[in-house]
Amino acid sequence: MNDPKTHPVEGWAEVDFNSEPFLTDFKEVYQGMHNSRCPFAHSSSGDHYAVASHSEIMSILKQYDVWKSKYGPALDYLETPGVLVSVDPPDHTFEVRIVADCFSREVFNSLVPDMEAFVNARLDEVSGSGEMDLHDVISVPFPLFVIHKLLGYPLEEPDGTSRIGFIRDGIIAGVGMMLQPSGSREENMARLPADDPGLLGAVRTQQMYVDHLADCKAKLESGEWQNDTNIVCRFLTTPGPDGSFLSDEKILGFMGFLETAGSATTTIMLSNVVHRLLTEPGAYERVCRDPALIPLAIEETLRLDAPVQGLFRTNDEPVDLNGCPLEVDTKVMLLWAGANLDPEVFEDPMSFSLDRDLSKVRRHLAFGYGTHFCRGAPLARLEGEILLKALLPRLKNLRLNGEVVMEKRIPVLQGIRHLPVAWDL
Ligand code: HEM
Repeated sequence: MNDPKTHPVEGWAEVDFNSEPFLTDFKEVYQGMHNSRCPFAHSSSGDHYAVASHSEIMSILKQYDVWKSKYGPALDYLETPGVLVSVDPPDHTFEVRIVADCFSREVFNSLVPDMEAFVNARLDEVSGSGEMDLHDVISVPFPLFVIHKLLGYPLEEPDGTSRIGFIRDGIIAGVGMMLQPSGSREENMARLPADDPGLLGAVRTQQMYVDHLADCKAKLESGEWQNDTNIVCRFLTTPGPDGSFLSDEKILGFMGFLETAGSATTTIMLSNVVHRLLTEPGAYERVCRDPALIPLAIEETLRLDAPVQGLFRTNDEPVDLNGCPLEVDTKVMLLWAGANLDPEVFEDPMSFSLDRDLSKVRRHLAFGYGTHFCRGAPLARLEGEILLKALLPRLKNLRLNGEVVMEKRIPVLQGIRHLPVAWDL
């Protein structure tokens, strides 16, 4: 094992970002970091530092020449070529341009009728029963349905069985390892027993991508599909600045990244916002009376319950982090969820309020900032709005109906895993 690049620092918090106590009380930990006026931490498991100050994170993200994404957003040092969040300009500029073409307002708006139909069909299935686990029935499948629409392959096998189970197993295993204190994610995946559902899910999902890529190539060749039929066709047919095309490896990487980034995060956001509405006094009644508050409810939930706790950067040159000298290539975790509770930026940051100014709430960093700002942010917001606009008028007197279970299998993500709700019949 290499010598550690980091060590405990006097006056900084010492935090185990993988531990059960942290995952239960992370907001109190961030609050403590802010209150100590030194919102920096050293991780006691895994060799990295972490920053929760909104202004420090913004400052890091603005120093594009120093702070890099090339080793990937996780704690391990990526060895194989990554995509988007693991790439710096100028390569990133080309990659993000292709994604931006596919993620335009027009493309998102064209999905709206299918998205509304999907949510309403789910509600049709359960509305007569008076209860459901909203997380399983809607929050998990809805974002996967949307990302599969964009990628252009169905969520069902040819025999009609759902692919959601194995896709989710693969995602949970992969993202669950992002904060593993040692070994690369590939190595850690390879160490799983051969019958581990996460490993099996990842392998099956990868095969699904390989098959879809071959299908897109064949259908483009035969003229059955066009360059803009789906995102994969666009990847295959958009030349880079030097006229070359993305390799198969890169395209498979895009598919994996988009499926994960577009679903695991949004799944958590959807359950979180419904949970907030059902637990904050008066919030549900206010939003039912005035649906114009829906965007603010979503944004305030993203601020207070950011689905992604934090992601990493490394420094390309020696730097001083608040008095602590950092060796080149030190992993530093930018704590989006911590920045969103920074009292320097958000008044009374721990409280959920539908009286905040939307433009001020949008200073939250749940979608990151700068070069790598989330390209799917408008889509995630749209999914939240479509869900709430369908759910609130249809299910009367919606309320919690049992134990809300938090997601602890994926330390880098935080939010809800089971959300039992009931309504009047
Ligand atoms: C609530 C839901 C979501 C959250 C909280 C979220 C969060 C984030 C964050 C924090 C980043 C910044 C990464 C960094 O700076 O290292 C990011 C990047 C990204 N997200 Fe999202 N995301 C969400 C939904 C989506 C969706 C629905 C999609 C697409 C279907 C998507 C696609 C992307 C892409 C493509 C990037 C990479 C941008 C780049 O590197 O240029 N995200 N997301």
